[in-house]
Amino acid sequence: MTQLDHEKYGGVVPEVASRAHLANIQPIVLQTLDKAQISLEDLDAIACTRGPGLMGSLVVGLTYAKGLALGLDIPLIEVNHMQAHVLAHWIEAPQPPFPFINLTVSGGHTQLVMVNSPLDMIVLGETMDDAAGEAFDKVGKMLSLPYPAGPHIDKLAKEGNPDAIEFSKQNFKELTFSFSGLKTSVLYYLQKQMKQNPNYIQENMADICASLQKNIVTILLKKLKQAAKEHHITHIGIGGGVSANSGLRAGLKTLAERQNWTAYIPKFEYCTDNAAMIAIVAHYKYLNKEFASLDISPLARYKL
Ligand code: KG4
Ligand code: ZN
Repeated sequence: MTQLDHEKYGGVVPEVASRAHLANIQPIVLQTLDKAQISLEDLDAIACTRGPGLMGSLVVGLTYAKGLALGLDIPLIEVNHMQAHVLAHWIEAPQPPFPFINLTVSGGHTQLVMVNSPLDMIVLGETMDDAAGEAFDKVGKMLSLPYPAGPHIDKLAKEGNPDAIEFSKQNFKELTFSFSGLKTSVLYYLQKQMKQNPNYIQENMADICASLQKNIVTILLKKLKQAAKEHHITHIGIGGGVSANSGLRAGLKTLAERQNWTAYIPKFEYCTDNAAMIAIVAHYKYLNKEFASLDISPLARYKL
């Protein structure tokens, strides 16, 4: 699915996404082989995402992968998308040593993960409702920004005052996130302001974005700090689309200096969804001979 499709519909439409997967999968595989200057016969195994994700898109990818594995008579390797976001750190150096804690923040997930080895990781805490990226995207929709709104809010926030507006704060003792209350708090705040000034959003866009971003980044870093303290870990990574956020990156850098952490952030193209992160998980599974049966089904919800 292309960025243009997302923008046209103001979000990901499952049916459009799976049709786009179907149309693009073969040309992309052929282009990739061409770029790598190898042929199908050179492959040792076929890896693909089993979940979590949109069922229609997962079906297309898994069915295609099974077909290739069967046709080429090589093993199939199934990959959990969230494990892949964590292992994105291993695509290029510097790679964090084990154990380390990773904050995975994407459009669908917000997770704190203890990583003991490439294939041994446990979720320490996650969101009860919306993901951090979803909070950016849903508020972006209220502000009439294009989808996905995260990068737009990030850019606009640079011109605004992060202390201009105080949105609701979450206050759990546990390593748990919740972003749906924040979304509602922004909605009510905007509705109230618009009653007095219908141009409120246009006139205060930068301040709204900066204040929202500060709120989200503060929550993420607070829980990251709590997890690191509770588990006595000083090697800290972030990944997933939201780790491209400049406020989160700067905040992590400052926090790492204060806490004496070593922080790891993958290259930008390895933070957002990418195939290299699926391949790196497959690499470790291949070494372990963890192959999948050809009768597996995709899992829209797939726990780490
Ligand atoms: O990991 P990802 O590419 O796809 C999923 O697996 O969901 O993450 C996409 C999410 C979207 O919610 C998008 O708004 C957010 O990452 N995002 C950002 C930024 N760049 C992407 N959020 C805040 N600031 C950014 N610079
Ligand atoms: Zn993702």
